[in-house]
Amino acid sequence: MTKKLLRALNGEVQTVPPIWMMRQAGRYLPEYRATRAQAGDFLSLCYNSELAAEVTLQPIRRYGFDAAILFADILLLPQALGADLWFVTGEGPRLSTIETRADFDKLTGGDMIHETLNPVYETVRILRRELPAETTLIGFAGAPWTVATYMIAGRGTPDQGPAHALKAENTALFDALMDTLTVSTIDYLSAQIEAGAEVVKLFDSWAGSLKGADFERYALQPAKTIITELKSRHPNVPVIAFPREAGDAYVGFAKATGADCVALDNSVSPEWAAAKVQLDGCVQGNLASRHMVTGGDALVEETRAIVRAFSKGPHIFNLGHGITPDADPENVQLMIDTVREGE
Ligand code: CP3
Repeated sequence: MTKKLLRALNGEVQTVPPIWMMRQAGRYLPEYRATRAQAGDFLSLCYNSELAAEVTLQPIRRYGFDAAILFADILLLPQALGADLWFVTGEGPRLSTIETRADFDKLTGGDMIHETLNPVYETVRILRRELPAETTLIGFAGAPWTVATYMIAGRGTPDQGPAHALKAENTALFDALMDTLTVSTIDYLSAQIEAGAEVVKLFDSWAGSLKGADFERYALQPAKTIITELKSRHPNVPVIAFPREAGDAYVGFAKATGADCVALDNSVSPEWAAAKVQLDGCVQGNLASRHMVTGGDALVEETRAIVRAFSKGPHIFNLGHGITPDADPENVQLMIDTVREGE
């Protein structure tokens, strides 16, 4: 096994860790903005397999990252389930909301989702043909809780208030939505793997707003169910779990869910995470995205500190969250050069 990312996921300690970046195909790159314009808009880009593969490849060509992440969005699954979805420029996603049983009953499920999602699988197939031999292809989906927060509110929310409210006031309906999402996420990720994804990542971007028993029930359990079923269908495909801002709940998450790697946001210190989380296996992270805007000595020092803190165990270098549109592409190069300076 020669691919650096797969070696890290297999538990190998490497002097220079593999590196990729969340949202590496994105608006900070002029070539991405040009291809998105060619596609028309963001969603048309997601469903245009040739162009989605093109933007996935752009950061690989420019920087030589060790992994490519499929270009798509976590909100394509709700759309495949029958929700309306559109993006408002400068604001973000909008969806039809789920407030009542009738809203939920309108959703479809089962094999129906693949009709909408087939172009995504085609993107994966193109990428497996076109990626360099050393680059690992990562597929992904949103975790049920995070996807549910968007489906319930119909948009992104600062505190996931509407989802917390539905969970408290109509637990049966909330649980039914979580179950539908859990099952369809397994099918969606399986189909990506069958098309050629070598690793899959589960993004639970809003896991941090679930506390105590809620975290166990709505972040940990669904991840465990999804990973257990994926492992039974595809035993050799590693899974990265990202329960963002889980804090202390990062500890033991990999063991409890069966994840091969836990991705860390930048609210946890690398020294703490090396002692408490990396002892169970591979970790990914966790440079603050703002360094991609500000650059300079702080970027170099922080990058070195993260590489050093995680150097005794398996590690994948990444940001703690997605790169932002105001980032300077030269700072990305500086981060990569710093990670690889020990080569
Ligand atoms: O390069 C990659 O990381 C792969 C592609 C990818 C996108 N979204 C493309 C995208 C991935 C893995 C995602 C995941 C995603 N999408 C998450 C989980 C990770 C996270 O950021 O917490 C979430 C919550 C979403 C939902 C979503 N998509 C929101 C809230 C937004 C609007 C906010 C924003 O950044 O504009 C999007 C849009 C989106 N998804 C863009 C991209 C490149 C920007 C849209 C554009 O190009 O106009």
